[in-house]
Amino acid sequence: MGRDRIVIGNWKMYKTSREAADYIEHLAKKIEGCSTRVYLAVPYTSIASASNTAKQSGILIGAQNMNDARDGAFTGEIAAMMLKEAGADFVILGHSERRRIFNESDEFIHRKVIRALSDDLQTVLCVGETGAEREEGKTEEVLLRQIESALQDVPDKAHEKVILAYEPVWAIGTGKTATAQAAQEAHAYCRKCLEQIFGKRKSGHISILYGGSVNPDKVKEIVKQKDIDGVLVGGASLDPDTLAAIIHQCEGKR
Ligand code: PGA
Repeated sequence: MGRDRIVIGNWKMYKTSREAADYIEHLAKKIEGCSTRVYLAVPYTSIASASNTAKQSGILIGAQNMNDARDGAFTGEIAAMMLKEAGADFVILGHSERRRIFNESDEFIHRKVIRALSDDLQTVLCVGETGAEREEGKTEEVLLRQIESALQDVPDKAHEKVILAYEPVWAIGTGKTATAQAAQEAHAYCRKCLEQIFGKRKSGHISILYGGSVNPDKVKEIVKQKDIDGVLVGGASLDPDTLAAIIHQCEGKR
């Protein structure tokens, strides 16, 4: 199955819009000619400037969260259409920091997924087990629950706009990357879950990325794995040279 290589940088709550524009100009030069698809999930306030700066480069700009409602009296929230109009092509949903710190439930994430896909935003759905869940042997149970609940009833053809990110919670921001073999095993299981939901043919087009303390030294071994189509990078994406190094490591025929 010819899935593209994808690298997503997740800036979290870092960088002003001016810093975003400088970063993107720099990154675009460093990755000229690369075939890896590059996505940057930037703070809301940087989406417009980032997408303007990124226009000629092929880099896609997106958001890190959104609300599930079309609009309404939800002080401080943001809607899919607002993101789209600002220049976002995609949105990250279900990140473990949203699930853990902001108590987002599987049901809420599911409603957001449906909204994002209906409003034509590519959706990067994050799933992953905690350290305790892994130790208790519950990794597969957690992945199945998170994937099934988020992706049930997606509109026809909308699976084409889904990217799955396996991000073990214990590996995020900790410097503890999953071994390539452990990541491959989890990805193979995620692929099985996608097959159950969408069938083999449709699910074969959905990319599955690994996230959790990815850096230029570790990425090559990770993306060599059969079921790993790319990476979602947090901390290491804050420096454009480091992200460029990761992208270069991902280049090459699949
Ligand atoms: P990290 O974050 O690369 O800093 O571990 C990954 C993520 O949160 O998506």
